[in-house]
Amino acid sequence: MNDTPAPLTFAATVSGRIVSDVLIVTIDNPPVNATSAQVRAGLVAALNHAARDGTIRAVVLTGAGKVFIGGADIREFGKAPLEPSLPTVIDLIEKMQKPVVAALNGAALGGGLEVALAAHGRIAIPDASFALPEVKLGIVPGAGGTQRLPRLVGALAALDLAATGRTVKSAEALALGLVDRICDAELMAEAVAFAISLTGSPIRRTGMLAVAVPDTRIFAEATKKIVSRARGAHAPGEAARLVGLSFALPFEDAVAEERATFLRLRDSEEAAALRHLFFAERNAGKVEGLCAEALPLSTIGIAGIGLMGSGIAAACLAAGYKVVGYEPREEAAIAGQGRISDLLRRAVIAGKMTREQVEAGLSNLEITTHVHQLAEAGLVIEAVFDDFDAKANLFRQLDRLLKPDTLLATNTSYLDPDALAAVTSRPERFLGLHFFSPANIMRLVEVVRCAETADTALATGIAFARKIGKLPIVTGVCEGFIGNRIFSAYRAEAEKMLAEGASPEVIDRAMEAYGFAMGLFTVNDMAGLEIAWARRKRTAASRDPAAFYFDVPDRLCEAGRFGARTGRGWYDYSGGARAPDPDVAALIEDFRTRKGIVPRNFTEAEIMDRLLSAMSREGRALTEEGIARHEDDIDLILVNGYGFPAARGGPMFAASRRKT
Ligand code: 3HC
Repeated sequence: MNDTPAPLTFAATVSGRIVSDVLIVTIDNPPVNATSAQVRAGLVAALNHAARDGTIRAVVLTGAGKVFIGGADIREFGKAPLEPSLPTVIDLIEKMQKPVVAALNGAALGGGLEVALAAHGRIAIPDASFALPEVKLGIVPGAGGTQRLPRLVGALAALDLAATGRTVKSAEALALGLVDRICDAELMAEAVAFAISLTGSPIRRTGMLAVAVPDTRIFAEATKKIVSRARGAHAPGEAARLVGLSFALPFEDAVAEERATFLRLRDSEEAAALRHLFFAERNAGKVEGLCAEALPLSTIGIAGIGLMGSGIAAACLAAGYKVVGYEPREEAAIAGQGRISDLLRRAVIAGKMTREQVEAGLSNLEITTHVHQLAEAGLVIEAVFDDFDAKANLFRQLDRLLKPDTLLATNTSYLDPDALAAVTSRPERFLGLHFFSPANIMRLVEVVRCAETADTALATGIAFARKIGKLPIVTGVCEGFIGNRIFSAYRAEAEKMLAEGASPEVIDRAMEAYGFAMGLFTVNDMAGLEIAWARRKRTAASRDPAAFYFDVPDRLCEAGRFGARTGRGWYDYSGGARAPDPDVAALIEDFRTRKGIVPRNFTEAEIMDRLLSAMSREGRALTEEGIARHEDDIDLILVNGYGFPAARGGPMFAASRRKT
């Protein structure tokens, strides 16, 4: 028996050791063991070593740390390709004459999963995760993933995984047939035993397995759904097409087509846009000069458990926090409690939480009508109606009752958080946490750094938002912060176009064709028109009388047209779906007549051009004013909070590409 404790080195990032005549190859390429050129070369060297050395009976491939392989090295995309390519490495693995087992010590993603699929056996720790997330980067798997996966899990399951990028955990992976075993105790010992058990029998090569032809009608319908959900992005449809080839073409031909598609998409605008967002997201929340440690939090207080507060509470409970929800009125408290329970139970139906997690979450929830019960919270988030006096009174009360080191956060959308901080004795422990509705679902949270917010409070706000699964973006203080200020800018531009001759449906159609989930006027109708109306009335006195003012939204509200909830807004919803309304057209026409505007037609291209210019202009202003840290944050906000299509990379990215 040959055991060599001394490591073998195949590359700086790939090492080996021999245990029971099995070569254990470890990839150690922090942070995520991506298959860089050096890793690929190291793997080839390790496999060749194993093939040549007659004392080695089998190979185990694994990763150092918490990730098996996080995929191809995304930083290499866009650069000249370096040999050996990942398909070469994977081909070598599959064709090895000695068994190769993938010991999955953590996430196996993209190219990492493709490596595992080509191995002759797969054993995983219980909480490993698996995905082909390439479509989220605007590409398709490029090293056999769309062809080997259907051979292990069937074409329909492979379609779901490859075309959506969905992640599965070990238990589901085992049930699907994606992995063969889940280890009981010690991964490496069990992987070595597994590899030895495969010696002496014919090797099962994934690429040589047959694919069962699925019900083609079901496959076509599933593909159609995927394409329609992709909102104009191409990669999901391409991934679906490639999975379809797994039962239509010989393996080699389908793999060649997959590689060609991967290389074509890798250089596309869509891939560049999604890569930009990937790296922007990794940089979000890394605030220059912020080195303060986040404070540990175990209990979160939520003052006001209406719609927004309930969503925030559900997100906190799902993340394992204790939550104290405060509502002064008994009925509102009972309603809030019901709403929070409902949100958690819906998470079970959506497959986002297990029943046990929901039960555990609900046992961490305390609802109270007594404000002093918020005292044990380390952070109290205020989520009451956006009215200054209501919020200021609440903060005065909280400031008096809570321990001096408790952090206070406001969820205001439009009020001045500096003025709210000023009513307390702890402005350095005060910040904004601006959630988006529905708060348990929407990923974006604007973390508002007020004039006196201390670094510790900011770091705690960012860490808290991350812990509840959100994407925190730091913003300075201005009316509407980053997101709503840009929203106001492009809404104003859209209203100008209405005045000049466009209609709500023409503008909405242009935005939807561009990839927005919903056009602006439909979004307004869904959100309700009355809040913006109240704000316009509040700020009417300070409006510049010489500035362009489009009063049709006021006319709509005066007529009781508050949006979809009231059956009418920019559209008529009486028939169920949105329908253009001649009364709205007449109101707009009346405005044009009063202003002496002769209407003209707009193309979709011109509409998008003007909207994107308005967004990027405001985005640049926000960056110059120091409200936004950099333009990438603006892209993340628009994509994650305002339905801007991810495949376009956000308004700043889109504007920069238009210039080149
Ligand atoms: N290539 C290069 N860098 C990567 C990377 C990759 N595939 N994946 C992550 N990184 C980098 C990040 O940019 C970040 O760098 P930074 O510290 O300088 O900001 C660092 O690794 C850590 O990343 P995260 O902050 O995301 O760490 P987490 O622990 O939260 O998550 C992860 C780890 C789940 C692996 C996550 O990073 C992830 O999802 N990565 C992308 C996975 C992916 O999309 N893989 C497919 C690549 S395409 C492919 O494989 C093509 C193939 O088919 C040929």
